[in-house]
Amino acid sequence: MQIVRNNVELFNALAVARLQGKTIGFVPTMGALHQGHLSLIAESQTTCGITICSIFVNPTQFNDKNDLEKYPRTEEADLKMLSAVNCDVVYLPTVEDIYPEDWICPEFDFGDLDKVMEGAHRPGHFKGMSQVVHRLLWLVQPDKLFMGQKDFQQQTIVKKMLELLHWKTELVRCEIVRETDGLAKSSRNVRLNKEERQQALTISQVLFQLKKENFPSPNNFYKWAIAELEKQSLIKVEYVEIVDTTTLQAVDNWNTKQELVCCIAAKVGEVRLIDNVLIK
Ligand code: PAJ
Repeated sequence: MQIVRNNVELFNALAVARLQGKTIGFVPTMGALHQGHLSLIAESQTTCGITICSIFVNPTQFNDKNDLEKYPRTEEADLKMLSAVNCDVVYLPTVEDIYPEDWICPEFDFGDLDKVMEGAHRPGHFKGMSQVVHRLLWLVQPDKLFMGQKDFQQQTIVKKMLELLHWKTELVRCEIVRETDGLAKSSRNVRLNKEERQQALTISQVLFQLKKENFPSPNNFYKWAIAELEKQSLIKVEYVEIVDTTTLQAVDNWNTKQELVCCIAAKVGEVRLIDNVLIK
């Protein structure tokens, strides 16, 4: 596994891969890696000649200073995990590599995609996220980009960004990897204490129940789900929404041919968690 710590080293690694005619698969991350991240690496390895994983805790996408400070940084363990799964290249850029002084960050118009759900609750988050992903894509120029369904709105916005830029990079959406009891794996889970970890389980449980039971309407589900979640003393719900997967607009009935996704964001103690399920 090649570890590159600046853009010159990155370009050299990429040039070699391109000369060898290899397709480039890219997995951007913020580190504190877990099996969810590794599933994206595995997916890339099945179809790409070379897999590059970046680790960069992007300051501009954190709307909460405390969240940025507390974000786990586990470089040594991350490198071990990536090496164990034979990731080809790990890119650990500096802030100057990503945000050089003369770099002009484009502003994207995502319509309503970045106004709802996470966009409404985390002002500036998607602006920072899209700018860093744009910069990383510009540097790596991958054939395929692997992102998780776990951050459903994020990958929808990145898909839109690729369309707006007329870039050929193919976005591959990868399934959510969960703990055996159902909790979606997240770098933030390590911050949960025992009681919070137990209560956090309700988030995936209400999502699974939506798939099992016939709720008469989305509204009926919201009422039930919010009540279930708020029975847990440490949970504060931010939103529960059932939206069209392409427009991200909430629906008020089930009479649609569109694919729907139910997204939840909640704080469990101090830790903010998100999860979702596709429902059709
Ligand atoms: P991060 O939270 O580290 O996630 C990196 C990638 O891993 C994202 O595409 C995310 O959806 C995916 N992922 C996280 N948990 C997952 C799980 N349980 N199962 C499957 N995939 C999972 O998302 C970011 O970083 C950043 O916003 C980034 C795109 C790197 C830009 O800074």
